[in-house]
Amino acid sequence: MTRILMVCLGNICRSPLAEGILRSEVTSANVFIDSAGTSNYHIGQHPDKRSVENALKHHVDISKLKARQFTVKDFDDFDYIFVMDSNNYNDVISLARNEIDRQKVELILNRVYPNANIAVPDPYYGNEDAFENVFFILEKACESISNSLIALNSESKLNN
Ligand code: 4NP
Repeated sequence: MTRILMVCLGNICRSPLAEGILRSEVTSANVFIDSAGTSNYHIGQHPDKRSVENALKHHVDISKLKARQFTVKDFDDFDYIFVMDSNNYNDVISLARNEIDRQKVELILNRVYPNANIAVPDPYYGNEDAFENVFFILEKACESISNSLIALNSESKLNN
């Protein structure tokens, strides 16, 4: 079982979208996908209405997801932790206990643009276009992650 965690700040815009998109692209029962936020701002809430509506437009249903906060235990529960921007990266890394934890954390867009350290822009204060833009960015990233899983044939382990 490969366990993948998507992380952003609020867990209501970007990471639930990344979770939903990747889930729609990976059909293997051998892959577990979840998301979390580094903040406690929106714990227990469904994703932002604009994120839900934009995803639905692309046939991805994230309406039932509920926000939770990233915890140290997530380092034990997940193999890959994809973060959206450098703030998320620093916040997650600050909780890492050792090198094994640290190596699990990766900027998601480095899967599309290796080593470029490009952020997925936060659409929270943006308009509808910002959400549409984030959808396409995350779709590309998830496609790359999903291809890595397929490349390994069994879809049981991601290559780097
Ligand atoms: P997310 O977006 O990190 O993509 O879920 C945000 C959601 C909420 C806030 C900031 C970003 N906020 O400040 O409440």
